[in-house]
Amino acid sequence: MRRRSPRATGTFLLCLLLLLLFSIFSLHLSRNAISTSSLNLNLHYNNDHLHHSKRALLNELDDDGLLLHPIARINDSSFSVSVSDSILLPDWEILLILSPNTPLPPLPLDRQDNYHCLFRNNERSPAKFFAVLPFTNRTTFKCFVPESVRRRRIFSKPTLVASSSYNESPELSSSPVPEILKWNFFVYESFSTDDDVVLFAKGVNGRQGNDRSPNELNCVFTFEGNGVRNAVKTPVTNSVQEVFRCPHPDPSELGLGPNYQSLEGQGSEKMTVSLEIIAHNIVVPSVAYYTPRPNKEPNSIQAQPKYEICACTMVYNVAKFLREWVMYHSKVGVDNFLLYDNGSEDELKNMINELRGEGYNISTLLWIWPKTQEAGFSHSILYSKSMGMCKWIMYVDVDEFVFSPLWNNLENGKHGSLKSLVPQEKRAGQVSVNCLEFGPSGQKVHPLEGVTQGYTCRKKVEQRHKSMVLVDAVDPSLWNVIHHFKVNEKGGFVSVQLGLDKWVVNHYKYQAWDEFKNKFRRRVSAYVVDWKQNVNLNSKDRTPGLGSEAVEPQDWVNKFCEVRDERLKSFTQKLFGPFRPNQTHAMA
Ligand SMILES: *[C@@H]1O[C@H](CO)[C@@H](O)[C@H](O)[C@H]1NC(C)=O
Ligand SMILES: *[C@@H]1O[C@H](CO)[C@@H](O)[C@H](O)[C@H]1NC(C)=O
Ligand SMILES: *[C@@H]1O[C@H](CO)[C@@H](O)[C@H](O)[C@H]1NC(C)=O
Ligand SMILES: *[C@@H]1O[C@H](CO)[C@@H](O)[C@H](O)[C@H]1NC(C)=O
Ligand SMILES: *[C@@H]1O[C@H](CO)[C@@H](O)[C@H](O)[C@H]1NC(C)=O
Repeated sequence: MRRRSPRATGTFLLCLLLLLLFSIFSLHLSRNAISTSSLNLNLHYNNDHLHHSKRALLNELDDDGLLLHPIARINDSSFSVSVSDSILLPDWEILLILSPNTPLPPLPLDRQDNYHCLFRNNERSPAKFFAVLPFTNRTTFKCFVPESVRRRRIFSKPTLVASSSYNESPELSSSPVPEILKWNFFVYESFSTDDDVVLFAKGVNGRQGNDRSPNELNCVFTFEGNGVRNAVKTPVTNSVQEVFRCPHPDPSELGLGPNYQSLEGQGSEKMTVSLEIIAHNIVVPSVAYYTPRPNKEPNSIQAQPKYEICACTMVYNVAKFLREWVMYHSKVGVDNFLLYDNGSEDELKNMINELRGEGYNISTLLWIWPKTQEAGFSHSILYSKSMGMCKWIMYVDVDEFVFSPLWNNLENGKHGSLKSLVPQEKRAGQVSVNCLEFGPSGQKVHPLEGVTQGYTCRKKVEQRHKSMVLVDAVDPSLWNVIHHFKVNEKGGFVSVQLGLDKWVVNHYKYQAWDEFKNKFRRRVSAYVVDWKQNVNLNSKDRTPGLGSEAVEPQDWVNKFCEVRDERLKSFTQKLFGPFRPNQTHAMA
């Protein structure tokens, strides 16, 4: 921080005061009072964002008082695309979300230099088309924050400009642009069930069970369009982890009349939904849209779910491992695979299409929100229910294979099935299975014969459980910790633990060094800190003996090898035949 002369400081503070008054005044005028004022109140939150005073707010404004600066003039021929929300993600990445049906200039989306984020200091960075969000069909782009902007403690959302030869005047705006949202404090998704609305939000509840009581919160539904703006609140009935439930708003209260349903998908009107933290008079910033209650057809008594057993996991760039995982689990009784894709950039789509072409049932859902593994699993329960998809869902990752040692004893021509191991007891709502962790087993590179035949040496002790849950037995709170749900005890359900002699999960956790390194770099997991950082060294998610170094430890190939375990290897050889380099049904 540079030092200022007292006079300069005085002038500076006076300016700030004027700016503050002006901003309060202009917020009053704003049509969009609810969401804007929520932004205003949360301009400077950090981890204890809710306790920030106005003084702190003043102290944190940076040298340029940048918030209310008019946007820099764009002097070349560019076209500015209206961005409705932008979120600052970890690692200085920005997610830009366009309104539904935003017209884009006729430029190819896949060329890096066609789109840029333009910041208020006239700095640009290339923006890349990212994905179209499910449910709302909103187009998203991503760009990085340029170095010169990173130094500021606060910054406004950038403008998305399409440059190059496209000749159209940019829309210049001189009005204040709201500050960018931060990934750890916003409502990111909403899901409408027959009975209520489920919101997913970060930063409202603390971790480790530090949840706000439902009566501290309201859901706020805001309809805007056709010159109307209306907000309706309903009380929150459930507040657990990142999941909040509340009743649907009364359509007539929103002033929408009976044509309510027909507004869906038209794009220009939108109904946002957020959470109000009553005591702090804060409406949490939100990018979630409300979808009205699904139309209930008369006589639509839910038949049995379509699939008896589904496997669900969150994936990022796992194309290479997917075939073996899908083929194996399909063979042992998994009927459908539900993949929550965290914006994969590899060949995942092609691989999925290839497998679908061979008859495998794979459902995917784009789930791009940072550090939301538990929330994603909560979502999968709602999603499966609404689609009548799965009776049981097994939560195992792509490097985990469920197996029963009993299957090794079956006569030739017979192979086991998970279905025969599902507990018949009516009360059983969840099955927990122990994991065995396999080491590199001498492999220096990804084994061509696949992981189940390539890695055969493991640690002796079993690790934390994985589980398979009966969708109808999940507690309405949707509470879960990695791969394990709370079952609805009031509904009479219990969790059962199966012994290692019945079921095991072979977890190919420590693979050949390059694979291991990649996996842990971008670990698709909930709250695991960056494994290279020197914190949380005792966490189970760390690798014993690896510390925080990203260099290959000595003798990696022989680590974690205490027990030779070829049970799954011989079982998959029985199922698929021993590995031959050019067999067409190769699992790897
Ligand atoms: C836009 O302005 C910058 C300086 O503000 C200048 O360097 C640049 O040449 C200008 N570009 C065009 C196309 O006029
Ligand atoms: C999103 O797009 C899909 C396919 O184009 C369409 O079926 C769906 O109705 C759209 N949803 C909304 C909310 O616009
Ligand atoms: C895919 O689902 C259908 C039912 O929709 C089922 O008949 C079929 O066996 C499934 N395919 C596989 C490979 O599990
Ligand atoms: C998805 O990937 C991003 C970027 O690598 C990461 O920050 C985020 O935590 C991941 N999301 C989940 C749910 O793991
Ligand atoms: C494997 O491929 C080689 C040459 O590519 C061929 O000569 C051989 O017959 C193939 N083996 C089998 C079992 O298909």
